[in-house]
Amino acid sequence: MIQKELFEKLYQSALEGFNNAFAPYSNFRVGSSILLKNGELINGCNVENASYGLCNCAERTALFKAYSQGVRKNDIECMMVLAATDGPVSPCGACRQVMSELLKADTLVILTNLKKDVKEMTVKDLLPYAFTEDNLHE
Ligand code: THU
Repeated sequence: MIQKELFEKLYQSALEGFNNAFAPYSNFRVGSSILLKNGELINGCNVENASYGLCNCAERTALFKAYSQGVRKNDIECMMVLAATDGPVSPCGACRQVMSELLKADTLVILTNLKKDVKEMTVKDLLPYAFTEDNLHE
């Protein structure tokens, strides 16, 4: 289980993302944070669009921010996702696919909510039998 101190660091960063969410259409705010092995934190939020299909989830915002700064999967310790849900938030299928590409299979993903209910999963737990680069060469 994740240490309380690490949980709090990730939570505060994800909460900042949650508060920055641009969700005028769904009013469903999501925040995400990534803890790097060097202790740095990168967060993200969902960013919606009047053309609904262009909405970007918080998880992908945070991961794309990280990769655009040169971060790669080996640099990432763990990730958190936060929403105002009853139980720990459930990441969408598109984000699970992106996580399976941009995070290691055994990387911890902490799902939580504003009550701090927690579900800890690995990337592999979130998307078993994923379509990966390997399948392209079969
Ligand atoms: N959303 C996320 O940011 N992450 C998820 O894993 C689930 C959905 C966003 C997308 C959209 O802006 C809003 O939540 C409602 O679907």
